[in-house]
Amino acid sequence: MQGREARGAGGQLDMEGALVARDRVGIQDFVLLDETSETAFMDNLKKRFTGDLIYTYIGTLLVSVNPYKDLDIYNRKQMDIYMGVNFFELPPHIYALADNAYHTMLTELNNHFILISGESGAGKTEASKKILQYYAVSCPSTTLLDRVRDRMLVSNPVLEAFGNAKTLKNDNSSRFGKYMDIQFNSEGDAVGGHILSYLLEKSRVVHQNHGERNFHIFYQLVEGGEEELLRRLGLERDSQRYSYLVQGECANVPSINDRNDWKTVKNALQIMDFDESTIEHLFGVIASVLHLGNVQFEPDSKSYASLDTDAELGWVSTLLGISAQVLQEGLTYRKIEAKTDEVLSPFTVDHAIYARDALAKAIYGRTFTWLVGKINEAMENKDPSRKTVIGLLDIYGFEVFYVNSFEQFCINYCNEKLQQLFIQLTLKAEQEEYEAEGIEWEPVQFFNNKIICDLVEEKHRGIISVLDEECLRPGEATDLTFLERLEEKMGCHPHFVTHMLADKKTRKTLERGDFRLLHYAGEVTYCVVGFLDKNNDLLYRNVREVMRDSKNAIVRECFSGLEPDSRRRPETVATQFKSSLLGLTEILLAKEAWYVRCLKSNESKQPGRFDDVLVRHQVKYLGLMEHLRVRRAGFAYRRRYEVFLKRYKPLCPATWPHWHGVPSDGVEVLVQHLGYMPHEYSMGRTKIFIRHPRTLFATEDAYERCKHDLATRLQAKYKGYRAKGEFRRQKEAATKIETCWRGVQARKEKDRRAWAVKVIKKFIKGYMTRKEAKTTDNSEYLVFVRQSYLNRLKASLPQTVLDKTTWLTPPPVMRETSEILRQLNMRLMVRKYVRGITPQRKAQFQLKVITSAIFKGKKDSYPASVAQPFLDTRISEQDINMKVLQMIRNERIKYSVPVVKYDRNGFKPRDRQLILTTTAAYIVEEARVKQRLLYTTLRGVSVSNLTDNVVIFHVTCEDVKQKGDLVMQCDHLFEMLTKLSVVANKQGAIKVVQGSIKFEFQAGKENTVDFSTGQEPMAYKAKNGHLMVVSTRTRAR
Ligand SMILES: Nc1ncnc2c1ncn2[C@@H]1O[C@H](COP(=O)(O)OP(=O)(O)OP(=O)(O)O)[C@@H](O)[C@H]1O
Ligand SMILES: [Mg+2]
Repeated sequence: MQGREARGAGGQLDMEGALVARDRVGIQDFVLLDETSETAFMDNLKKRFTGDLIYTYIGTLLVSVNPYKDLDIYNRKQMDIYMGVNFFELPPHIYALADNAYHTMLTELNNHFILISGESGAGKTEASKKILQYYAVSCPSTTLLDRVRDRMLVSNPVLEAFGNAKTLKNDNSSRFGKYMDIQFNSEGDAVGGHILSYLLEKSRVVHQNHGERNFHIFYQLVEGGEEELLRRLGLERDSQRYSYLVQGECANVPSINDRNDWKTVKNALQIMDFDESTIEHLFGVIASVLHLGNVQFEPDSKSYASLDTDAELGWVSTLLGISAQVLQEGLTYRKIEAKTDEVLSPFTVDHAIYARDALAKAIYGRTFTWLVGKINEAMENKDPSRKTVIGLLDIYGFEVFYVNSFEQFCINYCNEKLQQLFIQLTLKAEQEEYEAEGIEWEPVQFFNNKIICDLVEEKHRGIISVLDEECLRPGEATDLTFLERLEEKMGCHPHFVTHMLADKKTRKTLERGDFRLLHYAGEVTYCVVGFLDKNNDLLYRNVREVMRDSKNAIVRECFSGLEPDSRRRPETVATQFKSSLLGLTEILLAKEAWYVRCLKSNESKQPGRFDDVLVRHQVKYLGLMEHLRVRRAGFAYRRRYEVFLKRYKPLCPATWPHWHGVPSDGVEVLVQHLGYMPHEYSMGRTKIFIRHPRTLFATEDAYERCKHDLATRLQAKYKGYRAKGEFRRQKEAATKIETCWRGVQARKEKDRRAWAVKVIKKFIKGYMTRKEAKTTDNSEYLVFVRQSYLNRLKASLPQTVLDKTTWLTPPPVMRETSEILRQLNMRLMVRKYVRGITPQRKAQFQLKVITSAIFKGKKDSYPASVAQPFLDTRISEQDINMKVLQMIRNERIKYSVPVVKYDRNGFKPRDRQLILTTTAAYIVEEARVKQRLLYTTLRGVSVSNLTDNVVIFHVTCEDVKQKGDLVMQCDHLFEMLTKLSVVANKQGAIKVVQGSIKFEFQAGKENTVDFSTGQEPMAYKAKNGHLMVVSTRTRAR
């Protein structure tokens, strides 16, 4: 086991876990105690026990101190905590050990066993139950496996009922040895179980010391059995009625609830698939033993044994299904074979009682063996695939009573053997490790109990041999002759004393019939009385034969097929036991060992009491100190280089964070850096060995401090790493989204382009066929053309009625429409224009229309005059002389304008006013009317076609005195003539003449006005006597 830390994950952190937790209560691992004195050991143990910490390690060995009270450390939560966690990372616990064994088994695929040792009442059975429960809960589960697992779990209460009893040491003392294999498949499921039982203390069936009880099942049946069942079995609900139950005088114990336990057992039998009849037979056997115990004998006249009453025997015969007669014979006679005859020899009363008890023991003992077989059947896994096992060894503990007999001898011998196994395994392993590592081995003084084992078991020389010899030799062998033989053979053995061999002082403590063995665990005085009988364990042949015919299937099975050769003596009990222990040792040696050492805290089963003397004694005989010393053997701590380096490398810059060389070199550099002195450590082949815990503690303290720094750094690194990761993730996500988005856009763009190409194609096609009739190819184009034309047209409509040029040239399809629109627009503008005209302007336009009708296209100055607005008059009435006004008062003045009148002869220009009234035109010079011209006399009016302003009024001239035609020049020629034409209704009389105009200046006398164009406008009398009017040429022409 000491090489355990060399293994995988399981044990690697053991010391380190303990180091971390060392300041809690005491020290979790004794290996780390600074001094290995017994006092320090005890102090630590007590300190922890007082703090309800019942578990402490010595390396991977678990020391457990019985608290005698329920601690809240075996619940589901605790199991979860320990599941799969490195062994020593958590406080010591039986679960940690169980878990470590389990995981080591799974990783290394080998077999293991957990040796639970300690004296009676130290807590072995409890520990083994806790381990089993842990596996039941922690292993993977399936419905099928659950069934096997349930059976394994319930096998405990059944076996305890049949194999445990209250003793002075323990209210639930195991009276048989039990080795249970739990089988696991490669997945780690618990798939089966197998139990080996060792030497049941059968004598208890017929005899109990004061303060002790028979096996629990008897009391459970009597106390808990259903009325109907009891009736069938002929039992009464009163344990006092049965002589096999009353000898210890303590049938009822407060700590034991037989009724509840009965229910548990019944339930367990059901879970294990015991059928009704088997259960009935089983309890028939138990009841028959009780009845048998009550069978009493009386001496008859010849002092031979005869039955007291038939009733009890009747029940035995009924329950076992054998004839009462035959049974009675078997109990009171012995069959002696004499050559060919069989002779019946009657028993004395004592002899009969002996035979009865022997039968009771035999029935019970064999039934127990049968029961173990039955339970094994229930837990058996028939699948042939390879399995690994963890064995749980829970054997009766070392015990010393006031009177110790053959049973104690066997039990203590068994413990002696296991101690021997422990010493062998631990010392051997330790020694091998030192040798393998090339570290100097410093031998540790320890007590090797081989000498005691030899004393008991050596062939021909050991106590068992002597006992067997005494049992087998002819002649009168008694327990005392056996003692004498012992004294002869062992006389000078240092571990063997008898009354005869002892010195004076010791002799006082020994009876004549006693021998004393100095066991590894202390002295035990054995009383030889009964040794021979118990070793022989004889059952008279006729009784055996009777049993073979039993109608009770269990009994029949138990007694059939055994010892066919009746003449050959069966092996004695001690020899059988010795061989079975040898077998057990072989089983165990083939497996990896784990140890639980149980200590009893006090003799009185009191919670919280720590009996120093008692505990110290156990610590001593269990060899815990030696184990500790061997474990440390000069070096308290050893660890593989890789493991040591892995843990402490942060303490040295050269090894942190990575050491790239060989681990041992790394460790050397590390310890040099830490300042280890040469005597403080040693370098093995694969491990470093550190001599004192304090060196390690200093390192560990440094590590603790550094861990915080490290944690912060790691945290920062980790956070950075996380943040980086997160950033990368986000970036990736963004890129992804971007890509997707781009894809979407690109696809849209593609669609758009495809659409555009289509549209453009259509457009071009439409364009090319635009002049053709509407087809599917150009229809859209034409629509577009129309729309576009209309839109453009809208923006560029002519702004005035006069604007005839702005109209947008239409595409061919719109020609007609365009024309309609143009006209519409024009009409609209005209309408608007017309609506916006005032009555004055209207009147003016009417005048202008008249002007136009007369002059348009005829007189050159006309176009320029169009824009000149006409006024109502050019001379206001104020500017007309009052006299003149008075003269023409009767006629309304319609229009007045200044004119230049050319004299008739000399053509002298004279400024005059021309006044038009409703009836006549007046030529006025200041206050004088120079000429009155009635419209009726106005023949015509002539003007030239040129730009001059000369106008000639032709008048009807009848007499010479009358003034003739008027030649005038008027700046407002068109205005004046238009007014005249309206007032005098002379429209048709106005003529535009080209060249010259003749006129009559006096009746019958003519002259001419010639018109021409020139540089400057002028009017003069030409040499021919004509009036010459020169006007400028209009540019437009
Ligand atoms: N871990 C524990 N917690 C609480 N009580 C315990 C514990 N271990 C043992 N006990 C108490 O001690 C009693 C004796 O324990 P147990 O039966 O396991 O002893 P043992 O070592 O098997 O003795 P024996 O050799 O007589 O069979 C138990 O019935 C229980 O009351
Ligand atoms: Mg036990």
